[in-house]
Amino acid sequence: MAKGRKNGLYTELSAELSALMRTGWADTERHDLELDEQAPYAARRRAALSARFPGERLVIPSGNLKVRSNDDTYPFRPYTGYVHMTGDQARDGALVLEPRADGGHDAYCYQLPRDSRDNDEFWIGNTAELWMGRRRTLAESERVLGLACRDVRTAADDLASVASSGVPTRIVRGIDPALEAAVTTDEERDDELEEALSDLRLVKDAWELAEMRKAVDSTVRGFTDAIGELSRAVASSERWIEGTFFRRARLEGNSVGYGSICAAGEHATIMHWTDNDGPVRPGELLLFDAGVETRTLYTADVTRTLPISGTFTPVQRQVYDAVYEAQEAGMAAVKPGAAYRDFHEASQRHLAARLVEWGFIEGPADRAYALGLQRRFTMAGTGHMLGLDVHDCAQARNAEYVDGVLEPGMVLTVEPGLYFQADDLTVPEEWRGIGVRIEDDLVVTADGHENLSAGLPRSADEVEAWMARTAG
Ligand code: GLY
Ligand code: MN
Ligand code: MN
Repeated sequence: MAKGRKNGLYTELSAELSALMRTGWADTERHDLELDEQAPYAARRRAALSARFPGERLVIPSGNLKVRSNDDTYPFRPYTGYVHMTGDQARDGALVLEPRADGGHDAYCYQLPRDSRDNDEFWIGNTAELWMGRRRTLAESERVLGLACRDVRTAADDLASVASSGVPTRIVRGIDPALEAAVTTDEERDDELEEALSDLRLVKDAWELAEMRKAVDSTVRGFTDAIGELSRAVASSERWIEGTFFRRARLEGNSVGYGSICAAGEHATIMHWTDNDGPVRPGELLLFDAGVETRTLYTADVTRTLPISGTFTPVQRQVYDAVYEAQEAGMAAVKPGAAYRDFHEASQRHLAARLVEWGFIEGPADRAYALGLQRRFTMAGTGHMLGLDVHDCAQARNAEYVDGVLEPGMVLTVEPGLYFQADDLTVPEEWRGIGVRIEDDLVVTADGHENLSAGLPRSADEVEAWMARTAG
């Protein structure tokens, strides 16, 4: 718990003020709310989860507010598995799947209802409704989610009291300490629930794919905004790029799906550069990796590497072309039935071959690849699943994910890169401090893939032409 304030102005509450606050409020129950369009899809996702755990009680919390400091909290981010299974984003909620005798489950959802106006809870305390905004009533939540809803303030007692029923319970750990304390579960079995929730997100349904398109389309507009303001970034810093993209993300979506990487010059060699406080200098490259997250919390994850002056130097183009070709090779391997590892291998083999050709690692290329020598200059994998989380499905079982096979409806990034650190004495001086990544978001289709982010130029020539017509 955060420490309370020691220096609040108001320490006394008169009985008259308390009584005054409780009266004179209109009935604001919303009777106009309709079933969320995602609800039928969430119901199908719950059915798939139910089928994996017959006879077991499953508890999937949404999570609580986290204190940043004193009266301030971090922006709330619901647990991804909860969002996927309910379509809901409320804090302090929990989905429960209660097993039935026929092997199926009845689903209900704990929700934090509106604060009562019969006492002071609705206006005192910085997480009260008058401070945070109106919540839904339980009846409203039922209409929106298409789920029976109960008051979460009784959840811990409810769950503790059914613990003796002999029904085995699983809970996703690490999300809601109070609910976790109310149940007795086995850690390994709980982990299996989390894995299942990750597995079930590997293939996106039609509704999710439409959201992914929205995320990517907003991201394309955000990139165009940012490039259009490049001269202002040159006059200020990488922060101008970050702020410009963020405005688009907040206007069209919920936010950015991860900290934007606005990496100019040698910052481009730092995989997750998010300080974004460096200069933007003509003659250098800008590696810009950003994604808009929709209001429904699906995110894009796109990278373009741009010559700040508008044209690549010969060395920059040489690196860029190698990464571009590696990405082409990787994307060609994205099709149903292909091993998930295939696109990584195709890209990495290409990069290894180029690095051998340039004399930076010892060949032959097959040997270099087998030993992973290319990784000195390309530290990360070539992509990952994408969806509600930028690195989606991260708890999925290896057999389903990294050792699995691509299926239609999977969405993933293909993002090879080469990074020559500024202090790397094994490469010629003019290569040092160059970092290039090209990242696109692909959906696996019945006969191959579709590049959702194809709206952004990719080849070196296309990028230069784009800069010429867009850069502000
Ligand atoms: N933006 C993080 C990543 O590309 O994985
Ligand atoms: Mn990225
Ligand atoms: Mn990525």
